[in-house]
Amino acid sequence: MLRVLALVSGGGTNLQAVIDAVKSGDIHDTEIVGVISNNKNAYALERAAAAGIPAEVISPKDYMSRTEFNKALLSGIDSYSPDLIVLAGFLVVIPEIVIEKYEGKIINIHPSLIPSFCGTGYYGLKVHEAALKRGVKVSGATVHFVDAGTDTGPIILQKAVEVCDGDTPEILQKRIMQQAEWVIMPKAIDMIARGEIVYKKTEE
Ligand code: GRF
Repeated sequence: MLRVLALVSGGGTNLQAVIDAVKSGDIHDTEIVGVISNNKNAYALERAAAAGIPAEVISPKDYMSRTEFNKALLSGIDSYSPDLIVLAGFLVVIPEIVIEKYEGKIINIHPSLIPSFCGTGYYGLKVHEAALKRGVKVSGATVHFVDAGTDTGPIILQKAVEVCDGDTPEILQKRIMQQAEWVIMPKAIDMIARGEIVYKKTEE
């Protein structure tokens, strides 16, 4: 049984897609053992509660320094003994101490086709604003392992989504979530649960 811990900050639609796929059996032999949010108002916490998944808040606001928060996050993560940490819209940079301990066991969903529109500063609607500004005709989403860089870890799955005339960042974001993110995030977890993915660092 793959023990999955989800880290969230917001609405939690990706978390919901994973919860639903575990329930339906589309994700095989997996249990979501916990949810950690940095934001006490995240709707993702209600989704966890509704699904009977233990959830807690670990917020930088409750610690004197970033170092103290990082330590609390690491010990929070450790307390679930996860096999896989899923960043499902987690807007906090993963501390080095967490990467050192869990490298190869952390995955993230990014709402573009990496290496386009990724890296520092590309999060949330900013990704879609940049894609529309550049005039790309295709965007999409990427599930990748997390390493010490920003969006630089090995790619697991990608799915392309058409950009349409008249798209706003909000419309494009929604289409990418529906057609790509909610599909490839559960799929990547299932592939990991089945032992189909072997972690290999990105070459420099
Ligand atoms: C998604 O667009 C995801 O790609 C990004 O953050 C957003 C999270 O949305 N990393 P949700 O909280 O899963 O609804």
